[in-house]
Amino acid sequence: MDNRPIGVFDSGIGGVTILSCLLLKMPRENYIYYSDSKHNPYGEKTKQEVIDFVDKIINYFIAKDCKAIVFACNTATALAIDEMRKKYPDLHLIGTEPAYKMIHDYAPNTKTLVMATPATIESERFQNLYHHYDNQKTYLLACPNLAHLIEEGEEEKLTSYLQELLESYQNKKIESVVLGCTHYPLISEKIKNILGEVKFYDGGKGIANHLFRILETNQQLNLNNVKNAVYFEDSSHNRQKEERFFTFLTKK
Ligand code: DGL
Repeated sequence: MDNRPIGVFDSGIGGVTILSCLLLKMPRENYIYYSDSKHNPYGEKTKQEVIDFVDKIINYFIAKDCKAIVFACNTATALAIDEMRKKYPDLHLIGTEPAYKMIHDYAPNTKTLVMATPATIESERFQNLYHHYDNQKTYLLACPNLAHLIEEGEEEKLTSYLQELLESYQNKKIESVVLGCTHYPLISEKIKNILGEVKFYDGGKGIANHLFRILETNQQLNLNNVKNAVYFEDSSHNRQKEERFFTFLTKK
């Protein structure tokens, strides 16, 4: 029995889509969610900038005595997790990657669109994953600024931007869409409205199962807790963010 919290972070509130899966799998755990909205979007920052942001967040979680840290952000994982694992070899650092392996495992022959931030798409980590599982029917789509528009909740701009972004894929008969940024599941309905009946893939469930196994193996699950607590912190101290975050969390 280990009642220390689990730290979860993203460049904003998008990681709520990962936290929802963690809560479903591990409802007795306590969570601290860190939204780094001051530095959003990560997807257009340099590798070193993202490493520096992530390092600070890890130190925040260390000070809060977290037993595991979840990168609820594909971009932070792509750019910083290898360095952070080298720097903090004793911490459980769990990453989020575009769920492209799921296409290989569950839908190998489908026409696939992978959507992610430019930094994720260009990263060596993702390029290795893609070339390893390439089904020869895949389009990679870097989506500059999309996470930011979702983060800010700018509905009108978002709808017209998305229409423009996906226009050329409308007649390509896409069957599978990998949501390679944790903000994107929040707009899956909008994507469907443009592309039609596609099936979505993201890393949420896999991460929850993976973390559960790690904590179980290390006897670090919080087995006796009756109720969980979710504590929210935002680097720009934005109260509206907190409200939107909890609205999304309870909707799931
Ligand atoms: N939610 C993010 C991700 O999974 C970060 C988006 C961004 O800040 O650009 O990649």
